[in-house]
Amino acid sequence: MEEKLDKRLIVVSNRLPFQLIEKNNKVSLKASDGGLVSALKSFFEQNDSEHVFSEKWWIGSADFPERRWQKYTAIKKPIQAFEIDPLFIDSKLYNRYYNGYCNATIWPLFHYFPSYVDFDEESFQSYQEVNQIFADRIVALLRPNDVLWIHDYQLFLLPGMIRDKVPDATIGFFLHIPFPTFEIFRLLHRSWREKIIQGMIGADLVGFHTQEYVQHFLKTLRMVLGINHQFRTFFADSRIVKADLFPIGIDYQKFHNAAHQADVIVQRDAVFKNFDGLKIIFSVDRLDYTKGVTHRLAGFERFLELHPEVREQVVFVLVVVPSRQIISRYNQRRKLIEEYVGRINGRYSTLQWQPVIYRYSHLSFPELSALYQAADIGLITPLRDGMNLVAKEYAASRTNQDGVLILSELAGAASEMGEAVLVNPMDKEEMAHAIFTSLNMPVEEQRHKMVLLQKRLAEYTVIDWVQDFLKQLNEVKDQQRAHKTRHVTSAIREKIASQFRQASSRHLFLDYDGTLVPFAKHPSKAIPDQELIALLKLLSADPKTEVTIISGRSHLILEEWFDGLPINLVAEHGATIRLGNGDWIVENEVDQSWKPLVRPILELNAQRSPGSFVEEKNHTLAWHYRNVDTDLGFVRSRELLDNLYHLVRNEQLQIVDGNKVIEVRVAGVDKGAAASKVIQGKAYEFILVLGDDKTDEDMFRVMDTKAVTIKVGGGHTLAQYTIPSQQEVLPLLKQLITT
Ligand code: UDP
Ligand code: G6P
Repeated sequence: MEEKLDKRLIVVSNRLPFQLIEKNNKVSLKASDGGLVSALKSFFEQNDSEHVFSEKWWIGSADFPERRWQKYTAIKKPIQAFEIDPLFIDSKLYNRYYNGYCNATIWPLFHYFPSYVDFDEESFQSYQEVNQIFADRIVALLRPNDVLWIHDYQLFLLPGMIRDKVPDATIGFFLHIPFPTFEIFRLLHRSWREKIIQGMIGADLVGFHTQEYVQHFLKTLRMVLGINHQFRTFFADSRIVKADLFPIGIDYQKFHNAAHQADVIVQRDAVFKNFDGLKIIFSVDRLDYTKGVTHRLAGFERFLELHPEVREQVVFVLVVVPSRQIISRYNQRRKLIEEYVGRINGRYSTLQWQPVIYRYSHLSFPELSALYQAADIGLITPLRDGMNLVAKEYAASRTNQDGVLILSELAGAASEMGEAVLVNPMDKEEMAHAIFTSLNMPVEEQRHKMVLLQKRLAEYTVIDWVQDFLKQLNEVKDQQRAHKTRHVTSAIREKIASQFRQASSRHLFLDYDGTLVPFAKHPSKAIPDQELIALLKLLSADPKTEVTIISGRSHLILEEWFDGLPINLVAEHGATIRLGNGDWIVENEVDQSWKPLVRPILELNAQRSPGSFVEEKNHTLAWHYRNVDTDLGFVRSRELLDNLYHLVRNEQLQIVDGNKVIEVRVAGVDKGAAASKVIQGKAYEFILVLGDDKTDEDMFRVMDTKAVTIKVGGGHTLAQYTIPSQQEVLPLLKQLITT
């Protein structure tokens, strides 16, 4: 009960759900436009029965002066269901952020208009500054149980900025626009790319509208930061993060039931009266080049050209809602649309009829709903759109279940609305044909399609969307907690050190690459430095402590690096072992007969993957791909694994999918078996095993439960504990011998 009382939901978006208008000294509210606001507002207006939050907050930038806000709130609360926290940002700064980086860089790029993109460092600086202003405000008000949900491309950096200050915060991020392919994303300056992706993965859950956007994001994550995912889950440092799709829904009942609302009926009757006997085609969009309005007009014009017989029987009601008017591309678009409308009307109008009825303004809900209900065709043909809620609202509003939705296949909504007539918005012939066939579609067919569309919309509404997202966010937090209980904290480090000190016989099993030293571009460069050698010397100088370096490296290199130290060396994952300064013992007969079969495949792969190479050891052949283009390396490594599995099916060989290396070796040789041999017949009071890679899991598996096993880095493991990075390994070992 306590916890519920304290749990607040804080929604953050650039745009607040309303503007404040001042006229004749009186301040009033005006609803903001756009899909993000309309979706979130629907959620806030409903009672959320499943997620009980003590308070709901909405933080956004104010596009009205502070004085107006004070004047309004002195008298009333703008919206009952939630608290509003407006940020008043310096107008010049805001302009460079909003009209600059947000809407002249990210927006056109992410909607596949690269030629419209401004690449301006100063506007990126402003973007950072505004994100920081949001971060500072949020960090100041954040309480431990708060759930923070950040929305859209204007605030890409915000999750990361908050995470830096509040590492345990619960943060969700949702992107309402498309996430483009990496080929488009990579046009951003290198430092911008990294900052954007780092910012996004500051969240615990990153949501998108479609599977395609998720895939694009995950590939970009791999290309930009080298982070791989498993079933859409990945590690940001040592924190579990998930990316998934949550196709946003609408308030279905609001649109479906609006037909019975008195103010809607008045508007609908007026529309019918106005266009008596005409078939109505309707579209409404914000003024935006992504919405494809001029292409749509071209399709309509082509339809009129091809079908003179229906000319005076249809009307196209085209509503454009003002948006981002300061940006020249938007202003130009308005002119282009208006010229085009004028051209069509000039060419085809008769004394009694005008083909296009154009309106450039915001619509009230009753007007919008009346038009949805009156229109025989919803013509929604963006060139790109994250989702497109208008398409969903049109379908939901068809109370009689007739009407046809013509929808661009380039809108996110197309992936869920297969019953719509899907068109390529660039093709005016296809669009003209779609209009004609839709106007002539038998009513039974219209109903059949509309029933299916409505069923899906009713089953996954905006409330389901919110609940689904918040539930998954909660689940990720649970997974993180389960994972984190195993982190080596300073208390655990101290406990391990104390166990070590009390034990009269100890054994340390230490993996080399990625554990004792960081990965280098080429394995030959990962040489142990003075500090490491000195530490190993100190550790092994104590007769109570035995040290084993257990590695996939060849015995020659281990000998070269560690000769003279009183430690055990295990080379090639256990194929060869040297105890103390004794001789190397070859554990298995060196069977080389399999190498001619495997080597050509690895070599071919090396030729076809620039930057990679084959390493040959006594018992092992390895293909290293750390320096291959990330994406190519990933694909080639999966192909190689597949080939190798087929090839070695009948051989006594083992394939190991390691960290940027694929190794083939004789089966039965692994670090687990080798470690067991090293300790055979001896009883140690304390055993510590440290490793970072899949091959180290074999050691973790065979160890007695009393042994302390620690995995370095993220990812699934059998080890008892984890530490986030290689940099923490030497301090941990030093702590063992510091009293
Ligand atoms: N809408 C609006 N003002 C209007 C007309 C429509 O805010 O005058 C709403 C419409 O109901 C829909 C949203 O704007 O919910 C548009 O969302 P969509 O996803 O189609 O496009 P966006 O504007 O977000 O790019
Ligand atoms: C799209 C974006 C939203 C934005 C809306 C209206 O839906 O995804 O983030 O709020 O357009 O645009 P505006 O620039 O007026 O906020």
